[in-house]
Amino acid sequence: MRAVHRPNHHDDPVSRREFLGRLSIALSALAAAVVGIPIVAYLLSPLIHPETNVWIPLGDAAKFRVGETVQVSFRDPSPLPWAGLTAETAVWVRRNSAALADFTVFAVNCTHLGCPVNWLPDARIFLCPCHGGVFYADGTVAAGPPPRPLFEYQSRVRDGRLEILTRPLPIG
Ligand code: FES
Repeated sequence: MRAVHRPNHHDDPVSRREFLGRLSIALSALAAAVVGIPIVAYLLSPLIHPETNVWIPLGDAAKFRVGETVQVSFRDPSPLPWAGLTAETAVWVRRNSAALADFTVFAVNCTHLGCPVNWLPDARIFLCPCHGGVFYADGTVAAGPPPRPLFEYQSRVRDGRLEILTRPLPIG
């Protein structure tokens, strides 16, 4: 008995090529969406979530040592469901004196294009790794492209906890 060969479109090299082509387009579109959505969400967040001015805790005020500048991470108070890691941010906190609420809190983001700046304690400057922006300890611009001083958050101490008033950053 002779075997009957039924044409199967999965065996057809043209169909397979077409399928793979479509799959690759679909995957590219998916990848673009995954990358693009958090960026679009970040750009639109002040419009979608205008209530970003909220006090958020940074921890026990007593744990900060006078004169030290330390980085503290916190979660954006208006994280969007798809924001993922973009909702994670940080500030530089300095306790200026032993007085209960004498703190200076800078946004970690450079005022040029938003890269996180590093604090160099020996030189007492903030250095931006992206385009060499330099800020003095008081946040004012020392050199490079940043157009304005580091953004400073309003802070307070409530029930022994340091808190900052978050709001959209004027970057760029
Ligand atoms: S982002 Fe900091 S100098 Fe450009």
